[in-house]
Amino acid sequence: MIYLLSIVSFAGLVVALAAGLMVAERFLVTYGICKLDINAGEKPLEVDGGQTLLACLYANDIFIPSACGGKGTCGHCKITVTSGGGPILPTETPLLTRKEIRSGVRLACQVKVREDIYVRIPSDLLNVKMFTSTVESSVTLTYDIKEITLRLEEPAQINQRPGQYVQVQAPSPEGPVFRAYSISSPAHEPNIVQLVVRLVPGGIGSTYLHNVEPGDTVNFTGPYGEFWLNEDPLVEIVCVGGGCGMAPMANIIYTLYEKWPDRVCWLFFGCRTTKDVFYLKEFEELAKKHKNLHVVYALSDTLEEGETWDGETGFIHLSVDKYLEAGVRRQAFLCGPPLMIEAVTRVLEEKGTEDIFYDEF
Ligand SMILES: Cc1cc2nc3c(=O)[nH]c(=O)nc-3n(C[C@H](O)[C@H](O)[C@H](O)COP(=O)(O)OP(=O)(O)OC[C@H]3O[C@@H](n4cnc5c(N)ncnc54)[C@H](O)[C@@H]3O)c2cc1C
Ligand code: FES
Repeated sequence: MIYLLSIVSFAGLVVALAAGLMVAERFLVTYGICKLDINAGEKPLEVDGGQTLLACLYANDIFIPSACGGKGTCGHCKITVTSGGGPILPTETPLLTRKEIRSGVRLACQVKVREDIYVRIPSDLLNVKMFTSTVESSVTLTYDIKEITLRLEEPAQINQRPGQYVQVQAPSPEGPVFRAYSISSPAHEPNIVQLVVRLVPGGIGSTYLHNVEPGDTVNFTGPYGEFWLNEDPLVEIVCVGGGCGMAPMANIIYTLYEKWPDRVCWLFFGCRTTKDVFYLKEFEELAKKHKNLHVVYALSDTLEEGETWDGETGFIHLSVDKYLEAGVRRQAFLCGPPLMIEAVTRVLEEKGTEDIFYDEF
């Protein structure tokens, strides 16, 4: 009994001390002005110490991706800290590989600026801008998916690569939060950004976007993302989407056929039921104009009584396996839930495709 009491008292003391330290840091400790140096002098800044690195960068119009809003759960805010970041935190390690830890990669939302700090940020990210746009239309595609078209106001154009995404600013009781949405409109329409958004019940960002109306203002940052389309027209393109992972596929396909009308491209899209199917007619129309576009939709659930479906059935990786021959030069883009990405990646690798980009959501 005495042991139990000692352990409980010791644990209580540790918790009280930790809480005291947090309160002291929040209200009593000031770090003054700290130097924030980006890319060895390319962009020297002075910031108020005590904030997170992510917040300091945002305050200076440097918009690092932050899909979880700085909670340390998405791993999108990785940047290299060469000096002044302090020791790596237990909240960071699960989202960093050993190689990243060795090379100084940190989560900008977890690192507090307490002294002069030196960081490296890829030039792509330094070019990310904050956009103001007006909602042009909001179209219902299925019971839980809407297509939202935003006309850009300031800046009036976006320079995006197919497959990239933006981070929409949504209001929340704790202040504005950012959520990532892939751009579905093609790169040759630089005055608009179209999004395909699935409603997550109770979700902040998706509920906000499902309720915007024509004329409303929407702010977002972007473009972000590592997708790079292979410019060699002889390389086949494979797009595999599931759930709401359609937006980047639409962008890639429309961009592709604007530039290479004869390029071989496969679109595989996995839905659960016929109620989840959208854009099928549009892609079938496009495939009539471009004979090398192959469109395969598959339903994973069984049909309801009286329903008809002449597409594929089963999980989408089975269709990929069925239609694609091995040994062809291909580049693949995958978007959807993690299990789908895993299964499709395995099939593609078995067929010899290694140039694979993916976004899990
Ligand atoms: C690179 C990238 C691109 C993306 N592109 C798109 C896109 O084109 N279209 C699109 O609709 N979404 C896209 N997403 C997902 C999007 O960023 C949000 O995560 C999603 O809309 C949920 O945000 P929310 O604010 O509505 O929900 P939150 O307020 O973040 O979450 C509310 C609750 O729902 C849970 N939840 C969060 N996400 C999901 C989910 N996907 N399914 C089920 N439960 C969930 C959370 O755990 C939480 O409990 C993308 C994500 C990434 C990382
Ligand atoms: S913003 Fe999500 S982990 Fe940092």
